[in-house]
Amino acid sequence: MLTSSYPLKQVFHCPEESDFYAHSLESLVLNTSDSSRSIVEFGSGEGSPVIKALLRTSYEGKIEGFELNNVAWKIAKAQINEFGLSENYIVRNSSFFDSPAYKQADCLISNPPYLPAADNNIYQPLLHGGTDGSGIAKQLLSLGCEKVLLMVSSYSHPVGLINYACDRGYAVANFEIAPLTFGYYSSEPKVKNAIGLLRKQGMAFYSQSIYLLAGVLFKKQEKSQRDLSGELMQLMTAL
Ligand SMILES: C[S@@+](CC[C@H](N)C(=O)[O-])C[C@H]1O[C@@H](n2cnc3c(N)ncnc32)[C@H](O)[C@@H]1O
Repeated sequence: MLTSSYPLKQVFHCPEESDFYAHSLESLVLNTSDSSRSIVEFGSGEGSPVIKALLRTSYEGKIEGFELNNVAWKIAKAQINEFGLSENYIVRNSSFFDSPAYKQADCLISNPPYLPAADNNIYQPLLHGGTDGSGIAKQLLSLGCEKVLLMVSSYSHPVGLINYACDRGYAVANFEIAPLTFGYYSSEPKVKNAIGLLRKQGMAFYSQSIYLLAGVLFKKQEKSQRDLSGELMQLMTAL
């Protein structure tokens, strides 16, 4: 895959995180979905998470991604062609919110921007997740999709986000969690300061160099739906 030769400020590059997103997508969505289902993706980046997940599963349905960053989108397009996946994975160079595609989709997937900061004047403005980092994730949970797979960070007000999802009729159907080290984007002083402030307010949970990232499958609540939101909150606030 192609990205490591691009400046980190130009294209999101964090293989540890992207690989975990690919793994969550595979185990929580693709291995449990029938191929006639349609999936939309917010923020495809350079495409490698979905490409890797598609190559490792027998899912044959379509995934329609959206990526605003023009450089990342060009790499995604080239990689999709290179791996012969253009029938299964299309990435459009436009804002996810400008397309009605999510209205017809069964499932929305995303490793969304979740960096907290007072404003988006950070290394990559498109990675800004609002003042507490959970703003875009909340927007995605307000669109009404039946299933939503989101990567949720323990330093981006995870409890507020899970409560927001529950208030909108979602249950936590399944999740997986991995410890990640603070990287290039989360170590930017402006972002690190915002994270420190959130911690003082009980909204960010991490140890000196580690935070937790969860792949969380939210599903619209049905009568018999199991809800793991309590377990998820407990684990995400453990550090
Ligand atoms: C955390 S990165 C994830 C990239 C990739 N999915 C991965 O996991 O490697 C979030 C991506 O969302 C993109 N993005 C931000 N706002 C967007 C919008 N409104 N529509 C589409 N993409 C957007 C950013 O450019 C960035 O590439």
